[in-house]
Amino acid sequence: VIEAKVDSVLSLMTLEEKIGQMNQYSANFAPTGEVADNQSGEYLKRGMIGSTFNAFGAANVRMLQEQNLKYSRLKIPMLFAADVIHGLETTFPIPLAEACSWDLNLMERTARAAADEATASGVAWNFAPMIDMSTDPRWGRVMEGAGEDVYLASLVARARVKGFQGISDYSDLNKNNTLIATAKHFVGYGAAQAGRDYHTVDISERSLNETYFPPFQAAIDEGVGSFMTAFNDLNGIPCTGNKHLYTDILRNAWGFNGLVVTDYTAILELIAHGYAEDLKHGAQLSLDAGIDMDMISEAFVTHLQELVEEGSISENQVDVAVARILEMKFLLGLFDDPFRYCDVEREKEVVMNDEYIQLAHEAAQGSIVLLKNENNVLPLKKEDKKRVALIGPFVNERKSLNGEWAIKGDRSKSVTLKEGLDAKYADSNVKFSYAKGTDLPLIDRQTEKVSTGNVPDRSGFAKAVNVARNSDVIVVAMGENYHWSGEAASRTDITLPGNQRDLLKELKKTGKPIVLVVFNGRPLDLSWEAENVDAIVEAWYPGLMAGHAVADVLSGDYNPSAKLVMTFPRNVGQVPIHYNVKNTGRPFNDDTPADYRSNYIDVANSPLYPFGHGLSYTTFDYSNLKLDNKAFSKGGAIKATIDITNTGNYDGEEIVQLYIQDITASVTRPVKELKGFEKIALKKGESTTVEFTIDEKAIEFLGVDMQPIAEVGDFNLWIATSSDDESNHTRFTYN
Ligand code: IFM
Repeated sequence: VIEAKVDSVLSLMTLEEKIGQMNQYSANFAPTGEVADNQSGEYLKRGMIGSTFNAFGAANVRMLQEQNLKYSRLKIPMLFAADVIHGLETTFPIPLAEACSWDLNLMERTARAAADEATASGVAWNFAPMIDMSTDPRWGRVMEGAGEDVYLASLVARARVKGFQGISDYSDLNKNNTLIATAKHFVGYGAAQAGRDYHTVDISERSLNETYFPPFQAAIDEGVGSFMTAFNDLNGIPCTGNKHLYTDILRNAWGFNGLVVTDYTAILELIAHGYAEDLKHGAQLSLDAGIDMDMISEAFVTHLQELVEEGSISENQVDVAVARILEMKFLLGLFDDPFRYCDVEREKEVVMNDEYIQLAHEAAQGSIVLLKNENNVLPLKKEDKKRVALIGPFVNERKSLNGEWAIKGDRSKSVTLKEGLDAKYADSNVKFSYAKGTDLPLIDRQTEKVSTGNVPDRSGFAKAVNVARNSDVIVVAMGENYHWSGEAASRTDITLPGNQRDLLKELKKTGKPIVLVVFNGRPLDLSWEAENVDAIVEAWYPGLMAGHAVADVLSGDYNPSAKLVMTFPRNVGQVPIHYNVKNTGRPFNDDTPADYRSNYIDVANSPLYPFGHGLSYTTFDYSNLKLDNKAFSKGGAIKATIDITNTGNYDGEEIVQLYIQDITASVTRPVKELKGFEKIALKKGESTTVEFTIDEKAIEFLGVDMQPIAEVGDFNLWIATSSDDESNHTRFTYN
């Protein structure tokens, strides 16, 4: 039915109107107000704007849509898009943080809430989730992803697509709170060399298939409606003009029929890449590649007509792209009701409602990782009589708590750490005194040629040390200003910026126990801190309810349950670093140093904090690892079970992880790979048995021919609390 409707609209359109549908502007360029006599009006009359992004608000979007319907000849509704990465106005933790909860249901619920708010505010197409894989914390956009592990990241991709779209397949987009999700950036953006954003990548065929593709395939399996191109090139061909990628692989091999949009000015950038001679050539290369919509470059609106007329491309190619765009508009119900997403009353009810604010609190609690807790310095119980020195630039910092991508999250509404602690400990025996100590360094991209950040002065150190001396414990809140993580925020030094470490060194001299709370968007080099402070709480950018969630953790009202999804290196020289490495021919074991092995001479191979690491205030004992069978064969499976007991003094949650290694294979395999996990809740003293099923899927890998294969042989299996925990190990055979 939709196909017939699409065809009937197409048959009415001039070539110029068709091409106009393939053009997307940012709201900065789009019409505002009465546009009859300005350029936007001219564009609308000519049907030159198929889509606009970053226009928000039911009333505002309604007004833009009205202008479009008033001035365009065919009155084809405009499609409004936005980057709703981790919440619209109710800001959830940054995606990397949320992934540390390993709670897929939570991630689906926050994505749904984000989409509910977005659709109530005019948005029908979301440029999220970002599902780029990366093992390089220098790259600022790791904050938007789900970490280094492809198994976990693929599940997270599915959860987020499902949550955003609110349905199981994009062909079902017919409610006023469903929207199109976008799998971005296809592909390899996270492999930017040296972690420098937009830099070129060099990815082997194997890595592409094993690591970079699967989250995108998972998104398609979940029915994602659109893809966005990546800025980078792949094997010398920029993704935005890469026919092999978009037509041979995405469309033909994977059967994706949805909408493909370029990233911002990506067609224009084909010239700088040295791939297109000029914008016209870029338009041709992109269309030929299989791209449907041009974000910002104006390459299609400027050149496609001419390219059709001279026979360089066919009108049919244009029709195919336009049909995909019109199909989305039909599926979203925009032809029935162009104002479907512009209900001011619904917007009032939905945006920042109590349920979503509560969800933001839950998500922030579940994302905080306790990295270290020497001598149980945490929690700081309300009933204990304690003087706490509260020091650091993040104590009162508000703006950064939402992270870089909180596009409409009102930064003035986020709860600071101080506010959270004041509320938590209001009627308690714990008394706080405060000193900022130092500022967060900022980046002024306009004036600084090299953006190292201005190092703040040390004039606040003395007061901070004085406050610290008169305390029983020091809580230090430090991190990265929100501009230091995210797009175009690559770093070569991933220590705490500015002179924050210097301040810590001064505080250390007081001899008081130190709790460090870190707010940041990437794994940092916290080597000095790990050695010198007593506890480290990785809070990431927790979003709207930041202060409350961190206070819950510090007080013990919430027992931390998150675990790292990205390795924390000992220093930047270890980067890229990840747990699932290959053994090499000269494996190096940190316990038995030897010369001429694969190791560094100045630092251990092991990371500071591995993938899967995260502490709790309680302790969990793992025992009695058993297999119901030592072997299985084609079509079969075995079960692995382990008993887990909460042996500590708090109720708590534990993320139980299953790792497998194929010991010998026709293609070398990593030392271990995550193949399952379960998040369990145990009251103190309580035990449970966790069970994993191991079948062919769990031992499959891509063979020499890049096809999935399960090979007979022996396998190592661990059920572990972290990727570096090898205490519960067994072997099985596939025969
Ligand atoms: O969606 C984003 C993309 O991730 C990076 N460039 C800009 C786009 C639109 O905001």
